[in-house]
Amino acid sequence: MSRTLALTGSTGFIGAALLRKLTRAGWKVHALHRHSVSRFRLDAGESAIEWVRGSLEDPESLVRLVRGAEVVVHCAGAIRGATADEFRKVNVEGVMRLADASQKSRPRPRVLLISSLAAREPQLSHYAASKRAGEDDLRSAAAGMSWTALRPPAVYGPGDRETLPLVRCMQRGFSPILGRADARFSLLFVDDLADAVRHLLESAQWSEVPFEIHDGQTGGYTWEELIQIVAQIIGRPVRRFRIPVWFMQTAARGNLWLSRRMGYAPMLTPGKVRELTHPNWVCNDAALRRATGWEPRFQLEAGMRRTLEHLRNGRWMVQR
Ligand SMILES: NC(=O)c1ccc[n+]([C@@H]2O[C@H](COP(=O)([O-])OP(=O)(O)OC[C@H]3O[C@@H](n4cnc5c(N)ncnc54)[C@H](OP(=O)(O)O)[C@@H]3O)[C@@H](O)[C@H]2O)c1
Repeated sequence: MSRTLALTGSTGFIGAALLRKLTRAGWKVHALHRHSVSRFRLDAGESAIEWVRGSLEDPESLVRLVRGAEVVVHCAGAIRGATADEFRKVNVEGVMRLADASQKSRPRPRVLLISSLAAREPQLSHYAASKRAGEDDLRSAAAGMSWTALRPPAVYGPGDRETLPLVRCMQRGFSPILGRADARFSLLFVDDLADAVRHLLESAQWSEVPFEIHDGQTGGYTWEELIQIVAQIIGRPVRRFRIPVWFMQTAARGNLWLSRRMGYAPMLTPGKVRELTHPNWVCNDAALRRATGWEPRFQLEAGMRRTLEHLRNGRWMVQR
């Protein structure tokens, strides 16, 4: 008989990849959704999905979501927003409601939180602070339960709306350099993140210290290394243009102002600029590998090649 898990965020970029990977691995998935899911085209595993209509603000829907699940994978999150409160409502209060529903469920499920490497530097932005507070509050709310958190660095791949402008720009032979040229960052292809989650679900060695994860490139990348790999894939030089931090900050303040007037959730904010220009986003995945035996399959060249292929073929959103 297949095992059951509850998944939040399955209509998003990472959650859709999790849904595909985990159903193909034989899991039955209770998947939370707020809006219509008719646009989903999963070529396999559809019969293994039980959609649960609701949201993180609706405790009753979370009770239905976790009922009968042996694991909860909490991937829903706010990645855009203007104020601390907007992030807190989803990334902290949402975690608490889900933990509460899990505490009440029998048998009690294990809880895996998809946090973020940003949680390592909570002082940088409202987003980073909310991801850290989500971890901290889960630690207290999950007393007596088995739980862990995964802190991915920047995740890329087909279907991601946030990295699409950058990937499109690179495909056309241009790349910005945001912040310091010597900044180093880890990266992760979305399929590898989904595969790491699959491995974690099979592991009994969950740690309450969040696991870091990356694509196997110890020490991460610089912008220059990233650009060289893209140039190799597209077979022509990529022109660099440096965007000064003061310019990004000015644009971010303007966007924040506009978002308040027009009522949309902004991605580019002063906090996001502080995240983007932070000099060290390098991860260490030793603990995760020890606990799960997981190994990444897509280093940057392979992941980026696949990502650019999807863009070229006009299949960017096919994974949703
Ligand atoms: N992308 C990255 O590079 C990255 C890196 C590290 C960590 N993360 C973390 O990974 C998670 C997923 O990120 P993503 O890039 O896949 O974001 P995304 O594409 O924006 O997806 C967010 C998902 O969360 C759902 N959601 C948001 N608010 C909700 C609420 N109040 N109730 C129920 N569902 C809600 C969305 O549902 P709707 O479709 O209904 O809006 C969507 O399914 C987030 O927790 C993020 O912090 C992402």
